[in-house]
Amino acid sequence: MREELRLRSSVSYVGNKDVPFLRIYRYKEAFAYRFVKDFFSRFEVDSSDYVFDPFSGLGTTLFTAMVSGIPSLGIDRLPIAYFISKTLPLFLFLREGEVRTVWTSLSPKVEEYDPAEVAMDVPIMQTAFSEENLLLLRKLKSAIDELVSPYNEIFLLLFFSILEECSFTSKDGQFLRIKKDKRVANPIEAMDRKVAQVEQDVRRMRYFAPDLDVSDWIMPDVYFGDTRRLSGIQFKRKPTVVITSPPYANRYDYTRTYSLELCFHFVRTFEELRAIRFGILRSHIESKVQADEEPPHPAVEEVVEILSRKKLNNPKIPDMITAYFVDMQKVIREWYKVCAPGAKVAVVVDNVRFEGEMIPVDLILSDMAEKSGFEVKEVIVARYKGNSSQQMRKYGRIPVRESIVVWERSG
Ligand SMILES: C[S@@+](CC[C@H](N)C(=O)[O-])C[C@H]1O[C@@H](n2cnc3c(N)ncnc32)[C@H](O)[C@@H]1O
Repeated sequence: MREELRLRSSVSYVGNKDVPFLRIYRYKEAFAYRFVKDFFSRFEVDSSDYVFDPFSGLGTTLFTAMVSGIPSLGIDRLPIAYFISKTLPLFLFLREGEVRTVWTSLSPKVEEYDPAEVAMDVPIMQTAFSEENLLLLRKLKSAIDELVSPYNEIFLLLFFSILEECSFTSKDGQFLRIKKDKRVANPIEAMDRKVAQVEQDVRRMRYFAPDLDVSDWIMPDVYFGDTRRLSGIQFKRKPTVVITSPPYANRYDYTRTYSLELCFHFVRTFEELRAIRFGILRSHIESKVQADEEPPHPAVEEVVEILSRKKLNNPKIPDMITAYFVDMQKVIREWYKVCAPGAKVAVVVDNVRFEGEMIPVDLILSDMAEKSGFEVKEVIVARYKGNSSQQMRKYGRIPVRESIVVWERSG
């Protein structure tokens, strides 16, 4: 284990703020373009490799592979993430002025459309918007639904990217918070700004990846799937490189943070939203443990046992921890099955701490990887995060590692 704290900003989305197209939709759990580039060069990746991101999210790994001329495949189990991973590559083929032309003809007609159906029975949809903005957004959604591909997908992504600023919500913390005193944007003006950003990025892209010609770019294969079960995924060949980051065991619930996007397009009812919540990796507090599931590692067992005896602010934490590691063990075993001998793996993970009990997720996952047939090369500490002020007062300031674990599949 060693520190490399200069990686601090590239393991987070912040590093994408100046990257053409990756900056358009703020997927705040993403890592940055330059993180992927950095690991491509450490792993000496070239066009003969096959890159795999089993938790693709925004699609940072896939996008970076594409503009580096490297074939790749990605999977995500959250519909909005799958959609973005699949759609971002389409932006790379836009010509200057193309998006502006479509928007100039669409925007004056938005008011004429009937409002689109959205999942209004999800409670947050009742409070997230002013009446006026909700109506305009629903009409805008109907207008976008009528566009043909690829404009339909491109404008839908722009639409998702304005929802936060047009609502009283904020994706700051672990949940989608309601801030009633927030100044909200007008949807048409917000779209105007997004269209301007896209136009700027179309021009910037020419200089961004100057060493490769558009004809060298390779579209990634993107699947809506579950990385705990990879048998149905059509890999063109065995992946030689994995660059990824799983959800963290920190109670964070993607189906809450991205609920507005999900309610506008991917689900029609609260029940459908819940089905997604229970279909993703069990890293959130509503995760359920099956009767036959046990902590799959002695360190997990120890922490779960200690926490079960403590008075926790949420009694479901031990179950979530068990479920998380059961799932991650499945994931690692699946990766071992599909990867090529000698495949190199880099995974960004966060350690977590509950009621003073530190869980060294980086070391536990590495130990599981070793037992599944990977060789653990190194654990690189990219940054230390403080714990909450409440925990700090109670248990002292012990920073929590965010690390990159580097493994190699045995031959
Ligand atoms: C930390 S994010 C990945 C971010 C990504 N590295 C990027 O740069 O955008 C973790 C992702 O795992 C996805 N996920 C959760 N459960 C999954 C599962 N069972 N299979 C595949 N993806 C899953 C989440 O939807 C989320 O997009």
